[in-house]
Amino acid sequence: MNALGLSMIVKMGCICSRESININGHKYMVKERLGEGGFSCVDLVENTTTKKKYALKRITCHSIDDQKIAMQEINYYKKLRHPNIIELVDSTFKGSADIVVQATSEAFLVLPYFKRGTLHDCLTLRSFNKNYIEIKEVLRIFNEICQALKFLHDFTPDPIAHRDLKTANVCLTENMEPVLMDLGSCAPAKVQICGAQDAQKLQDIAAERSSMTYRAPELFHVESYCVIDQRTDIWDVHELVLFMLNVNPSERPFIDDVIAKTGDLKNKIDTIV
Ligand SMILES: Nc1ncnc2c1ncn2[C@@H]1O[C@H](COP(=O)(O)OP(=O)(O)O)[C@@H](O)[C@H]1O
Ligand SMILES: [Mg+2]
Repeated sequence: MNALGLSMIVKMGCICSRESININGHKYMVKERLGEGGFSCVDLVENTTTKKKYALKRITCHSIDDQKIAMQEINYYKKLRHPNIIELVDSTFKGSADIVVQATSEAFLVLPYFKRGTLHDCLTLRSFNKNYIEIKEVLRIFNEICQALKFLHDFTPDPIAHRDLKTANVCLTENMEPVLMDLGSCAPAKVQICGAQDAQKLQDIAAERSSMTYRAPELFHVESYCVIDQRTDIWDVHELVLFMLNVNPSERPFIDDVIAKTGDLKNKIDTIV
């Protein structure tokens, strides 16, 4: 058999072996990998009946605790309904994790697919083409992200903090509207720290679950007796706006400097946050 024949068989093999996943009676065909994070991977999938495309987030769980964390993420998607926060289309668990026999389970989250990708993708592409987003557009996107944050922070009975707000966790709709996603780090906003053990625990969670370049100073070095609240997200949103303004993150200017640079930004923040 010649090389062409062999390559055709290999290609056919790839097509035939394309993975399909059944979620609550709906069959999805896996098309391609969209992204990978520390705890999960996200695939582009197509519903075989409706042909509609979705993003399928899979979280591998190695223990009962991992399963609980994945379940918490699912519950946040379910309870947070806002135009600028991603909705959950469907979800399920397969398998059962058992750390003793090294058995893993997988959580599957069916999410709307955003063709434009994330704000991070958009900024990277624009920076490459030296076609930066106009300030007016930055403010509009920033304003909408703040609306989503305000919804989280005003949530009743208890305010919620996102704790991993960054450009890679914001998707963009066709109309360039930001949609906050990746609710895996969401937690009750107010945390009372009573002692060094509590402080170390929160510091470890922050190190594991939130990105270093965005992390609020109070989560880098958690004090032994203190209260941490949703202001951690305000630090993150300040970092996020710097990325949008294409400010070199290593310069890390203080928020006052940014406000001075962007003129009417302060008025916007006062009315929103
Ligand atoms: N709904 C979606 N539409 C398009 N791309 C997505 C979608 N959800 C996730 N992605 C891609 O997958 C990456 C990882 O997803 P995310 O939910 O942030 O997972 P992790 O918890 O592992 O960080 C994102 O940064 C993005 O590139
Ligand atoms: Mg993420």
